[in-house]
Amino acid sequence: MFRVVVLASGRGSNLEALIRARDDGRLPVDLVAVFSDKAKAGALDIARTAGIPAQYLNPRDFVNREAFDQALFAAVDAYAPDLIVLAGFMRILSPSVVAPRAGYMINIHPSLLPKYPGLHTHQRALDAGDTEHGATVHYVIPDLDAGPILAQTRIPIVPGDTPESLATRLLPNEHALLVNVVAALAASSAPSEPADLTAKQN
Ligand code: GRF
Repeated sequence: MFRVVVLASGRGSNLEALIRARDDGRLPVDLVAVFSDKAKAGALDIARTAGIPAQYLNPRDFVNREAFDQALFAAVDAYAPDLIVLAGFMRILSPSVVAPRAGYMINIHPSLLPKYPGLHTHQRALDAGDTEHGATVHYVIPDLDAGPILAQTRIPIVPGDTPESLATRLLPNEHALLVNVVAALAASSAPSEPADLTAKQN
């Protein structure tokens, strides 16, 4: 089974969407562990309630970013993930931990990348006068929010929209997008049908 580790700093609604899809049979993956850099992350509670091992690592327990990242990813690696999902993980990761995992670590970002990498994406889309907004799932590379794009979801921006209304309207789309991408990656890594080795009798 395709093994997925999730990293999250916040409430964990994307994690919850993955769990729900797994439970409904729409996402045939093993959610093997959840890690957070925030003790109070809702994602930790959601994981524990679902019976998924969940671990908090305090960045302040480490001398620097590099040391935290090395410890975090040593713990992640112990679960032998096929895929690492950053689902609202709000820390910038050192190139030394990103580069070796660039082909199997993905992030969900609330903008239509390459527009608006970084923070305050909803406000920036409004400030720019954009008529549409969205979210992107992309591979993680050392440059922030800059890796190859896997898929995007779009919503219109309508008069009266605020950062909050955009975030609220976008969230269900984000959940569906993330579930679909993880499902597609799991499917593409599945062994293909065994070849028919039966000798043809002619
Ligand atoms: C999502 O909007 C995601 O795009 C962003 O952080 C938010 C995480 O929400 N990177 P949640 O913790 O999954 O509810």
